[in-house]
Amino acid sequence: MSKSNQEWWPNRLNLAMLDQNARDAGPYGEDFDYGEAFESLDLDEVKSDIEDALTSSQDWWPADYGHYGPLMIRMAWHSAGTYRTTDGRGGAAGGTQRFAPLDSWPDNANLDKARRLLWPVKQKYGRNLSWADLIVLAGNVAMESMGFDTFGFAGGREDEFEADESVDWGPEQEMESWDRFDEEDMLANPLGATVMGLIYVNPEGPEGEPDPEWSASRIRESFSRMAMNDKETAALIAGGHTFGKVHGADDPEEHVGPEPAAAPIEDMGLGWESDFGSGMGDDTITSGIEGPWNSTPTMWDTSYLDNLLNHEWEPEQGPGGAWQWRPVDADAVDAAPKAHDPEGEQTPMMLTTDVALKRDPDYREIVEEFQSNPMEFLDAFAKAWYKLIHRDMGPPERFLGPEVPEETMIWQDPLPDRDFQPVGDEAAAQLKEEILDSDRSRQQLVKTAWASASTYRDSDKRGGANGARIRLEPQRSWEVNEPAELETVLETYEDIQAEFNDSRSDGTAVSLADLIVLGGNAAIEAAAADAGYDVTVPFEPGRVDAEAEWTDEESFEALEPGTDGFRNYLGDADDSDRTPEELLVDRADLLDLTPEEMTALVGGLRTLGATYGDTDHGVFTDEPGTLDNDFFVNLLDMRYEWEEGDEDGVYEGYDRDTGEVVWTGTRFDLIFGSHDRLRALSEVYAAEDGEQQFVEDFVEVWHEVMTLDRFDLE
Ligand code: HEM
Repeated sequence: MSKSNQEWWPNRLNLAMLDQNARDAGPYGEDFDYGEAFESLDLDEVKSDIEDALTSSQDWWPADYGHYGPLMIRMAWHSAGTYRTTDGRGGAAGGTQRFAPLDSWPDNANLDKARRLLWPVKQKYGRNLSWADLIVLAGNVAMESMGFDTFGFAGGREDEFEADESVDWGPEQEMESWDRFDEEDMLANPLGATVMGLIYVNPEGPEGEPDPEWSASRIRESFSRMAMNDKETAALIAGGHTFGKVHGADDPEEHVGPEPAAAPIEDMGLGWESDFGSGMGDDTITSGIEGPWNSTPTMWDTSYLDNLLNHEWEPEQGPGGAWQWRPVDADAVDAAPKAHDPEGEQTPMMLTTDVALKRDPDYREIVEEFQSNPMEFLDAFAKAWYKLIHRDMGPPERFLGPEVPEETMIWQDPLPDRDFQPVGDEAAAQLKEEILDSDRSRQQLVKTAWASASTYRDSDKRGGANGARIRLEPQRSWEVNEPAELETVLETYEDIQAEFNDSRSDGTAVSLADLIVLGGNAAIEAAAADAGYDVTVPFEPGRVDAEAEWTDEESFEALEPGTDGFRNYLGDADDSDRTPEELLVDRADLLDLTPEEMTALVGGLRTLGATYGDTDHGVFTDEPGTLDNDFFVNLLDMRYEWEEGDEDGVYEGYDRDTGEVVWTGTRFDLIFGSHDRLRALSEVYAAEDGEQQFVEDFVEVWHEVMTLDRFDLE
């Protein structure tokens, strides 16, 4: 097999993640609607089938204590727990735990069995029940079946049919290594986990050291990337480890075979075959740590907290050779039955990460409060678990099914109900005229609409133009949004809005969110007209304006673009270990764009002159504000020779005849001339017959970006 381009030239800009956006549809086709399919299910029947599967032990992987519940909770947690706020990637959506690398991560050992145990349920419901939904639902059913009252469940997650190429899982070349901390022990962005191949932290303690205090700081750092505060974190760990046991009957190094992606073909996608004893049951080796946390591992109660807080624990290396903690006075702790021999007994243990909850003063206060107030523990765990498994689903409209709680959570970035009639075509046309007649430039209008809509991230469906959160903190103060200029634009819009809404007595009104998009559209139509194209940018009214009290300012900080290649804003690109063009592709992926769409958008925004600080970089035209193909024509023109300029990150385009600098640009621009595929696309638009297509493509993708968050239209 010959090497791929990426293997020959590892530094070549990789567009694979954008190619994935181009073939999103999957085997059920474009018209298939996972949400509708989920809603057609009888959820009670599905849940009862899952519970049957959980309580029917199979000889090929017998259930601990006769109940697969704890194994399923671990699977659901590992599915959802890859989510990180930094870029919204990871998480339960997509059901990507079925694919490498996740299916073969050391932390996901033996979860291949958990998914196989659920296959009969998946097979019965087929396309109506996605794996993504089934994996987390199995976690909920498991808890309910073991006496816990869950807060709710929402379905509608879509399945992916290949691994998500866009997720940066870390720089290491080997599993279970860590090369992601700076001198201050800070975890590199955008990572959530502290070790390659683990969901969050090393259970033995940081870098394999049984050091509970250090472990606590790692837990705090990494769980905060999962959007969890101290209370939620403590509730999740304590709640989760109320159930089940850890498996390390002997040394994994000696007995356990390769993970699924490396296993022989006859293993049929299963991995971690063990030659220790029977390789299963009480001989199971998973993490290499061994023992239950309490004497009632298939029951919801406070016995985990009681064991943790009422007894002293000391480190030891268990039968698997890993660090774990045993009670100093083993006789004082109630023994658990052996998982596959009810006559036998096993002394409970703790992980370093469990002991961390006791040694860290802030966590300790919380777990003590939980112990003395079990209802608070239940409520905190129920809500944190609900958040964990739904955090990447986006706004409330996407939460489907009969078990969605009445209560909307602030982390869903809720919007108020619309209590007015959105504007029709005629009013929209009138408003566009008023906007164009105002003192605001085309650039200001386009940039404001872009700033508003382009916060959207398809990874966790947050951000976007709806809600006009651009007028709220923190967005209105983001450097990339040029706050002073933004304020003047918002003031203009507020005046136009007030005048329009006051003049209407028929219940029609325009939201600021709609007006911001409409302004961008108006500017683009005018710019296209100047280039000789009569276009109407589609407009879908009906957005509403969010309220500050329903906006979790802190959680929106994660959406701030450190760089934005679309506006030619380099920002903190220097601090990144990725090139500006890689950061552009990353952002394009979060906007769910294909390589073609990214190309049209950048070309259009440049010729419109919609750049950060109105810089000339990349504005390869004599007529900024006209929607033509000048960006591509001049970028590809051999009349110009490009060289690195004196200013950091800036390149200069010389006229070969006169030797004069005619253009300046950044890597965000030059990549469209230097990269083979992006150049091929740029040629399409730069050709004499390419301009009309460019204008049409730009308008189409602009409209797409403006409506990325309009789940209310579906
Ligand atoms: C600091 C974070 C955590 C660490 C380091 C950790 C580590 C581990 C380890 C090493 C195991 C044993 C796997 C095996 O050998 O079978 C385990 C099991 C388990 N974990 Fe966690 N865990 C963490 C958080 C959580 C959370 C947040 C939940 C759920 C809310 C959870 C639920 C479970 C359950 C139910 C099991 C038992 C699985 C079984 O019985 O087969 N864990 N965990």
